[in-house]
Amino acid sequence: MSARVDLSGRVVVVTGAGNGIGRAHALALAERGASVVVNDLGGTVEGSGASGAAEQVVEEIAKAGGTAAASTDSVATAEGGAAVIRTAVDAFGRVDAVIHNAGILRDRTLAKMGDDDVTAVLDVHLAGAFNVLRPAWPHMVERGYGRIVLTSSSSGLFGNFGQSNYGAAKAGLVGLMNVLALEGARRGILVNTIAPTAATRMTEGLLGELADRFDPRHVAAVATFLASEQCTLNRHILTVGGGRVGRIFLGVTPGWYSGPEPASPDDILASLDDICSLDGFIVPDSGADEVTLLQRVLSSDSGTE
Ligand code: NAI
Repeated sequence: MSARVDLSGRVVVVTGAGNGIGRAHALALAERGASVVVNDLGGTVEGSGASGAAEQVVEEIAKAGGTAAASTDSVATAEGGAAVIRTAVDAFGRVDAVIHNAGILRDRTLAKMGDDDVTAVLDVHLAGAFNVLRPAWPHMVERGYGRIVLTSSSSGLFGNFGQSNYGAAKAGLVGLMNVLALEGARRGILVNTIAPTAATRMTEGLLGELADRFDPRHVAAVATFLASEQCTLNRHILTVGGGRVGRIFLGVTPGWYSGPEPASPDDILASLDDICSLDGFIVPDSGADEVTLLQRVLSSDSGTE
């Protein structure tokens, strides 16, 4: 029999779970037995206003026989993040996993971007992760167990016109994952990231005639797995949408070596093909791995290897 992903007895916090992908996460997690904290302040795509989105999802879960509690706090502040985690502890006594999914958009080119467009987007996506993870972390450390799932985007990892605020926040989450994965591994805490594509209000009109193929439930299956005990991956970025699941990674090439003397800018110009070639790349497991690669090149040059 193939292994089954089981979250019974686990408590999972999902931020931004009142709509779209987060709602699908919450429903899928509850179906697999998790007690779910459905966090959402219920604003518009740009982040204004509030509604009862979180309570509605909690009701849906309860109707389907699952267990959930609502949190309407904003993850954009440290106090809000602490309140989200407090809801989990008060309602269910523990926090086993956090899926940070909450998000807003304020798409503008840099030339037209206001101060608030920068801070509002960074606060929800990037600071929001710190705001929920810092209070959740001690609970996970105490039990020697935790699963964290962050939500990045191709807009940050590969770029998208008019989304510098959003792209920077989404790429920042990968930096956060890289470090937390190292800090958490010896404590039983695994940290991974998804880069989703799904038909939601956020992508309305963007996915064309294939939009109905991008059911958020495709994304929820991956997040549910990453939030489970059955997940042994750490520090991975999985891209998921429309039924495809793949891996995104950061690699580094052996590059071009100038020798012990500093190269001139002309040498760099002349060597661009070698510098930019993708031949022989590796995917380091940490920043230290890249230093090891460099040390190997230098020691072989100085004849110590
Ligand atoms: P959505 O707009 O349907 O859902 C986002 C939810 O986050 C909303 O319910 C909203 O009220 C909530 N939220 C916003 N600010 C919040 C705050 N301060 N505190 C608590 N909740 C807050 O959007 P969707 O598409 O479901 O997006 C979910 C995540 O996936 C976002 O992080 C988004 O950036 C990311 N994403 C989505 C893609 C897609 O194709 N839909 C593509 C790439 C990334």
